[in-house]
Amino acid sequence: MANDGVDKGRRRFLIAATSVVGGAGAVAVAVPFVSSMLPSARAKAAGAPVEIDISAVEPGQRVTAEWRGKPIWVVRRTEEMLKNLPTLDDHLRDPNSEVASQQPSYAQNPDRSIKPEYSVLIGICTHLGCSPTFRPELAPADLGDDWKGGFFCPCHGSRFDLAGRVYQGVPAPTNLVVPPHRYIGESTILIGEDQEGAA
Ligand code: FES
Repeated sequence: MANDGVDKGRRRFLIAATSVVGGAGAVAVAVPFVSSMLPSARAKAAGAPVEIDISAVEPGQRVTAEWRGKPIWVVRRTEEMLKNLPTLDDHLRDPNSEVASQQPSYAQNPDRSIKPEYSVLIGICTHLGCSPTFRPELAPADLGDDWKGGFFCPCHGSRFDLAGRVYQGVPAPTNLVVPPHRYIGESTILIGEDQEGAA
């Protein structure tokens, strides 16, 4: 049949795809199961770690990527931004990141980061899930004289500093989440995996 070549080619591709998935730990041996394997392969890809190239990020800038359908922010903090963080502690709900669910243990430090210069956060408000806006400027008119840069959630007014720490007196109950991540080069961050293994 005219389709034979196509079918054989497709079968070869599917077998190859199966062995890749099988090598990663899933079990599938026969072609008839391949159709049921494809969605799980897709699901796996959707949850796979994501690399972010930070080589072009200027001090004070933020870049956004996506991991597992969530926005991931990387902010390159300036010296001044880092110096301002401890001055905010008295106004924050959890300045020492004691709520363990909000960051991996290697980010439970004053900067909530592996390298102080870079803040890595999931950009979802811990109140009801809106995405806060990036407001790095000092004392803008709408946020007040005390504003030292951070994130403002337009939905119900929650405020976070440039380490994702939540202010007191706002609806959001906890700090923004720091996702599992690690550096796989001078300027590449892998989101979704840490030194302790896959998240
Ligand atoms: S969702 Fe952000 S303050 Fe309500």
